[in-house]
Amino acid sequence: LHNGLGKTPPMGWNSWNHFGCNIDELTVKETAEALVSTGLAALGYNYLNVDDCWAEMKRGSEGELTARAATFPSGIKALADFVHEKGLKFGIYSDAGYFTCEKQPGSLGYEEQDAETFASWGIDYLKYDNCFTDGSKPELRYPIMQEALAKTGRKIFFSICEWGVDDPAEWAPDVGNSWRTTGDITDTWKSMTTIADLNDRWASFAGPGGWNDPDMLEVGNGGMTIDEYRSHFSIWALMKAPLILGCDLRDMSNDTLEIITNKEVISVNQDSLGIQGRKVCKKGPEECHEIWAGPLSLKRTAVVIWNRCEEDADIEVSWQEISLHPSTRVTIRDLWKHEYWSGVYNESIVVSVAPHGAEMFILSPGWSSLPKQEGRA
Ligand code: DGJ
Repeated sequence: LHNGLGKTPPMGWNSWNHFGCNIDELTVKETAEALVSTGLAALGYNYLNVDDCWAEMKRGSEGELTARAATFPSGIKALADFVHEKGLKFGIYSDAGYFTCEKQPGSLGYEEQDAETFASWGIDYLKYDNCFTDGSKPELRYPIMQEALAKTGRKIFFSICEWGVDDPAEWAPDVGNSWRTTGDITDTWKSMTTIADLNDRWASFAGPGGWNDPDMLEVGNGGMTIDEYRSHFSIWALMKAPLILGCDLRDMSNDTLEIITNKEVISVNQDSLGIQGRKVCKKGPEECHEIWAGPLSLKRTAVVIWNRCEEDADIEVSWQEISLHPSTRVTIRDLWKHEYWSGVYNESIVVSVAPHGAEMFILSPGWSSLPKQEGRA
């Protein structure tokens, strides 16, 4: 969507994956503080988004949405002000049906009024769900809210959440800044790998202003191993997915923080070219050694070598597999070890990868792009 937003995938946090309906204003305020104090905000995680369960179950006397008094007693405007004072942006959630999935009022039939309400509260991001609809096609319902948001004159990132039901990649690029391509993620290896594959099918539709959304990150929620979370983060970054954190930012392990603050991986996600990296090759036993790759600005190539097998493996990547011209000379930066490989490579590399782990690299042509102050390992 050409509304000036989402030139690179959005980054931030959303309440749903960790808190579900147990979300309240104190948690949101503490999360805002945590985004800043952990350094996450400075790395680009600047949207703080409240998902379902923020509203009263009935509209007010004028038909307006109102904050749930028991959990958001100060109201949404005051909360948005608090978040803005921290230098962050504030996002909220509604639904293109009669109710949200958790049965608070939906925006169907109230699009203009709700968009005006959101704009008057200073909302910067709207996630728009697809529960309890009138049965009409999402591609007809979502534009109504997009037009209502545009009419307010406020710049509001529009996140289409219809779970991939009506092949949104085919129509949503003109309607939203991102569109979910799948059902909900859960905090398991199986869910994460399945969703990565489903999202991959739509790679060619993503670009600056509109991104495929394979759902929010589970890193730090406890259901996967460190290697699995590192794979999750590497692949989401390479796929140009929204990097919306979903753990409790007030209580994170060092491993979690190390994964989500990896600047070099984030820089792949935020690259100005905005081309979604894809699965380019499967090999090895049961084809569970995967190469994912995509172009970056400055003629560089991002590569993730993902071992979806149960055993350690040495996995080879050839230039042909990642669409580099044969005999292109490249230098190799390891984005997880934060070091350069010594020498120049012109054909292939071999990388050892832990089971369920991923290694991630940037290949840069020639010597020229090596920063002067950094030596080669
Ligand atoms: C379904 C969405 O896919 C989830 O991300 C979350 O927003 C829930 N609905 C909230 O009810």
